[in-house]
Amino acid sequence: MYKPADHIIIIFGASGDLTRRKLIPALGELQKLGLLPDRFAVLGVGRTNFDDTSYREMISSHLEEPGEIIPLLYYHSMDTKSEEDFGGLARRLDQLSQELKINPSYLFYLATPPSLYETIPRLLSGAGLTREGKGIFRRIIVEKPFGMDHRSAAELNLALLSHLEEHQVYRIDHYLGKESVQNLLVTRFSNGIFEPLWNRNFIHHVEITSAESLGVGTRGGYYDNSGALRDMLQNHLLQLVGLVAMEPPTVISSDAIRNEVLKVFQSFRPITINDLPNQVIRGQYMASHVRGEAMKGYRSEEDVPENSRAETFVAMKLYIDNWRWGGVPFYIRTGKRLPTKVSEIVVHFKPSPHKLFSDHEGGTVEGNRLVIRIQHDEGILLKFGMKVQGAGFKVQDANLDFHYKDLSDSYIPEAYQRLLLDCMQGDSTLYTRGDAVEAAWRFVDPVLTAWKEDKSIPLHGYPCGSWGPEIADQMIEGKEYTWRCPCKNLADDGLYCEL
Ligand code: BG6
Repeated sequence: MYKPADHIIIIFGASGDLTRRKLIPALGELQKLGLLPDRFAVLGVGRTNFDDTSYREMISSHLEEPGEIIPLLYYHSMDTKSEEDFGGLARRLDQLSQELKINPSYLFYLATPPSLYETIPRLLSGAGLTREGKGIFRRIIVEKPFGMDHRSAAELNLALLSHLEEHQVYRIDHYLGKESVQNLLVTRFSNGIFEPLWNRNFIHHVEITSAESLGVGTRGGYYDNSGALRDMLQNHLLQLVGLVAMEPPTVISSDAIRNEVLKVFQSFRPITINDLPNQVIRGQYMASHVRGEAMKGYRSEEDVPENSRAETFVAMKLYIDNWRWGGVPFYIRTGKRLPTKVSEIVVHFKPSPHKLFSDHEGGTVEGNRLVIRIQHDEGILLKFGMKVQGAGFKVQDANLDFHYKDLSDSYIPEAYQRLLLDCMQGDSTLYTRGDAVEAAWRFVDPVLTAWKEDKSIPLHGYPCGSWGPEIADQMIEGKEYTWRCPCKNLADDGLYCEL
């Protein structure tokens, strides 16, 4: 791993939650690992009236281990809507570069409300701050949400690309920065045994769950306009589908990989209004007790209207109409206030064609399952049938169980670490491309429209600590199948996850 060239990272939204909780800690870790450029600084930008010293103090007070990153932080107070202030930002950056005796690349990070995603790039460009030179890069990272629907995403792409080139725009989906998500590519494409089986001939269906035990916390204002479909499914879950379902890229390069993901998105079978009852279930968490603790319902959360119709759970059945996947259902679900925090992919292989060892002897009815655990306790589990010792031919599920942490002593880095480093190195493989973002919106748009326009489409309540509305359990085709329960023993300890 080589170090990026000299950089200044300019963070818009410098005192916000994302900066404090994710960005600065990630940069701190990169610093500790010696992976930051030799000459480097972070310039926090925002309306709040900090100077360098008070900004450093504020950030330090939020970090468990402030460390060596703190002296590299600077602050510039400005109005991010004022053209004039961008002139001031350009001067401050020149001055900082002179102080550091560097001619750095700039990475602009938009950790701001989405309403500024169009304004800031326009004003940066107006101030000459997006012009690149030989070996000097100007890149911009845009946080999610990238649009609210297909139209707004397309407009945003257009707006960004009228001031920047596509190679300068990095649209973040932090799931792609997760080590275990990248491992999915390696599992699929560095192991010859999977490829022959990875298709409609051998796979019965695929399940993807991304569950959270927490509620919306203090993000009610944002979340209520978003809901689970926009917040998690349109981006993180569909990206996972893309990586599971894509064709092998010819090379490991950002465009080769992203071209294949795009093709998956373009092959999603559109969901029509008639398909909705069978293919999309939405829910909202209601007050209940979880292990003795009273949990409030979504409508009682801060900044959430008491008649809110925002979904905090969504489950979807989708099809990929292409040669590899024709007829194989993908079931994906996500929700807040579910029993545990877990993200996993379960590939269900078809049962053996002829059942020699029948059920009534205790045999398994399901086929083999490959469980790819994205978080927590990252790893891979293969479930297969084994003979129970003794008389007869009783078959029992056994586990071939690999935990990622056993591979090496080194810890699994946070997604933002990898993503920030990649961006400084100009590698956009783990960022989403504009066309794929639009394709994903195009797919989910009809569902959003139907929900908005047809008030008779049910929004099911579900108790906090459950796996969402019961009706979602019946979604999976075939009476012997249901969602895999990723918890070992919910009754005793909902937070313990078995892989
Ligand atoms: C974010 C969503 O993109 O992902 C949040 O906005 C969600 O609502 C979060 O909690 C989940 O990310 P992770 O990495 O904790 O699974």
